Amino acid sequence: MRRKLIAGNWKMNLGLNESGVLAKQILGKVKQNILKNADILICPPFISLSQVCGIIKGSGIKLGAQNLHYENDGAYTGEISATMLRSAGCEYVITGHSERRKYFNETNSVVNKKALQALNHDLKVIICVGETLQEREDEIFESIITEQVTMALKDIPSEKMNDVVIAYEPVWAIGTGLNASPKQVIEIHALIRNTAEGIFSKDIAENMIILYGGSVNKDNAKEILSAAGVDGALIGGASLKPDDFVFIAEQAAAVK
Ligand code: PGA
Repeated sequence: MRRKLIAGNWKMNLGLNESGVLAKQILGKVKQNILKNADILICPPFISLSQVCGIIKGSGIKLGAQNLHYENDGAYTGEISATMLRSAGCEYVITGHSERRKYFNETNSVVNKKALQALNHDLKVIICVGETLQEREDEIFESIITEQVTMALKDIPSEKMNDVVIAYEPVWAIGTGLNASPKQVIEIHALIRNTAEGIFSKDIAENMIILYGGSVNKDNAKEILSAAGVDGALIGGASLKPDDFVFIAEQAAAVK
């Protein structure tokens, strides 16, 4: 039985004080009955991780980072390692977000290295995949996503697959107010699950959490979260609004 996961990606927003305020607001609104049925994860900027960790400690709300480096340590100015994320209290890390692929040259092979590094350090990893508008219009999106998933999962030991989450985020839906239709979401989630089944096993694929991301908000969350094969959402903009974010988590917890 797959548990729903609602993940907030705060991106490059909020300083230390504002992060603390938002974490406290979310904490104040999350009721225990939500956490009985769904996991809630927040991913603040690096500098706020340790402070937010102190605020949510013991609440059941989970902490994640938005990126990591694939090396253990060394001369990589400005980078953050998996060990550092663990020491700041992270349980999860995101990799392969389309903004990182686009602006920071994060290729499928870099995403794979980062996923392996995260798993080696007992971090759960959220691997983002998704097609651009051009790739959808050119009708090559299925092969693009199959390749992204296959390359990201390369060399991951099957016993680590419990710690792998995939987020389907069509690039054209991120921050645009457009979102994929339930039919499109169901098709791609099935494609991702089938791809994982081909690499590992039916059992592993059936247990894998697959999130949808891209303009999820309080108005469309219920429909998206009820779609077959959707195990939760990765949320950008709406995760900065505590009422909306917790409302979406409530919707997730209510899905049967
Ligand atoms: P959005 O971002 O909800 O603002 O579209 C989603 C994401 O980038 O993960």
